[in-house]
Amino acid sequence: MSTKGQLVRLLEEARGGTMSGAEAAAALGVSRAAVWKAVEALRAEGLEVESVAGSGYRIAPGSELLCEEALCAYLPQPAPPLRCFAEVDSTNREAKRWAVEGAPHGSMVVAQRQTAGRGRLGRSFSSPPGGLYLSVVLRPEGEGNPVLVTAAAAVAVCRAVSRLCGVELGIKWVNDLFCDGRKCCGILTEGGTGLETGEIEYMVVGIGVNYATPPAAFPPELRPLVTSLYPEGPPPHPRAALAAAIHGELLGLFAGLSGKGFLEEYRRRSIVLGREVTVMAQPPYQALAVEIDEQAHLVVRRGNGTEEALSFGEISIRPVAGAGSPG
Ligand code: BTN
Repeated sequence: MSTKGQLVRLLEEARGGTMSGAEAAAALGVSRAAVWKAVEALRAEGLEVESVAGSGYRIAPGSELLCEEALCAYLPQPAPPLRCFAEVDSTNREAKRWAVEGAPHGSMVVAQRQTAGRGRLGRSFSSPPGGLYLSVVLRPEGEGNPVLVTAAAAVAVCRAVSRLCGVELGIKWVNDLFCDGRKCCGILTEGGTGLETGEIEYMVVGIGVNYATPPAAFPPELRPLVTSLYPEGPPPHPRAALAAAIHGELLGLFAGLSGKGFLEEYRRRSIVLGREVTVMAQPPYQALAVEIDEQAHLVVRRGNGTEEALSFGEISIRPVAGAGSPG
């Protein structure tokens, strides 16, 4: 790791306080001049490193450099394999490419922005700067239920955001997280099966959080529907801290997935249970969302009393023109 990389990590670990040039030099085993050169290089990359007279260097509040070394400051050691990009087509695509090459369980791809972010049902996912875009490679033992994994990922993000930001998010089945009535996070779970075994060899859980994204960064048609956790910025924690928190929560939940205890929290955070929803089937129909079952399927009841457990697809909480009346 370069001196510059090691210094980012040290400064992130000391965030909120300062670190003297002498301390940094001793920790890194280099001269103070080499530390100063690394500080200059970090400034040139856009990280605001303040010099505080008589006490040392510190990262200015609200400033960050999202890189592998910064992530390492927040991840348990040894850190999982990481790939970090200023810009990538899609972290899910990158993670799938990596999984095919053999990326182990827990490997994480992180990006500051995506040029071809992927959403569910073949849609695109708007991924402007200010957001956090990450994908984690999971290697399930036995059959992996993608709906349960997506539900676990939703709870993982809610827990990480609650812990770091003190903000409680709502979940719109199955993969959307809401804040103040608008979407602030989307989750896309994809998988790859072995040609010979036909079994799921890997899953990629992709998570896009609108973290400190200014409203104007979204396309105009999305602005009434989406929000971000800190639209006015700056956020209280760097994105590296949030990425690490999500990663930790996700791996913990995935390890205990068969216990399904997290489903209680999923239900508690649901913003659809007990509400009239439109099921976006062909043709769309209205129904009451009555339950989330043990497979994380959404059970809906039509006006004539028939119930259906939805395993995929989409629902809308807003009335949709043309949706048949309950029945
Ligand atoms: C949706 O809302 O339909 C799901 C959106 C999932 C977006 C995330 S951003 C990180 C990862 N990379 C992608 O291309 N998509 C997911």
